[in-house]
Amino acid sequence: MQLIITDDAQSMSKKAAEFVADEVRKNPEALLALSTGSTPIGCYKELVRMYNEGAVDFSRARSLNMDEYIRLDKEHPQGYYYFMKHHLYEHVNIDMNRTFGPDVMKENLDETAKEFDQRIEEEGGIDLILLGIGRDGHIAFNMPENELTFATHIQELSEATIQDNARFFDSIDEVPTKAMTIGIENIFKSKKVLLLANGEAKSDIMNAFLNSETLSTHIPATLLKLHPDLTVIMDQAAAQKCVK
Ligand code: PGA
Repeated sequence: MQLIITDDAQSMSKKAAEFVADEVRKNPEALLALSTGSTPIGCYKELVRMYNEGAVDFSRARSLNMDEYIRLDKEHPQGYYYFMKHHLYEHVNIDMNRTFGPDVMKENLDETAKEFDQRIEEEGGIDLILLGIGRDGHIAFNMPENELTFATHIQELSEATIQDNARFFDSIDEVPTKAMTIGIENIFKSKKVLLLANGEAKSDIMNAFLNSETLSTHIPATLLKLHPDLTVIMDQAAAQKCVK
């Protein structure tokens, strides 16, 4: 594992954007799996800035959303596809036909899940997956449970996650209670994993992630430590409890 601790969230975002841009420079057709939430917003801002300066070209890159609320359509302002459009796609030269996510509006969601995994396979697999981490250790929407699911699947969201996500909605009652998420297999088959964390609120989970001597499905992120190409970038605030 490569571990980078930055002074603050802004420098975490810069380093993360450099990492993503590097991947796209080396592999212009890279399939990126990009996450939503507060953590990567600064990274996307930085990528837009780099694009405007001519430092990165997304014209041949591909991108997917690794999860989506059921059933928010692609234009729903709280949906994850819309999030990526709003924070990145609309501001760079990515071809929208090369961006996709699970079609959660389709009647048969089991079919959606299968088709999504199939499409990832047809595209040749994920080259770089950018992950945030939940305060409970979830990655994408693989939540702490006794068992984790390999394939893309529907996930009931925990009370804590619903509460965390309520800030994006007018009221907590509007927060969807289920999401479709990529499973553990496609996370592990990603050629590179980049995990980001910033802020004090992530310090307990980052301590558990880095210092735990066991792997646990109750802290899904701990499994990432088995990935052969994992980079973690976090700021000092998230790292403050990690020093033994
Ligand atoms: P956050 O979410 O970036 O909004 O903290 C992290 C996650 O749930 O993956």
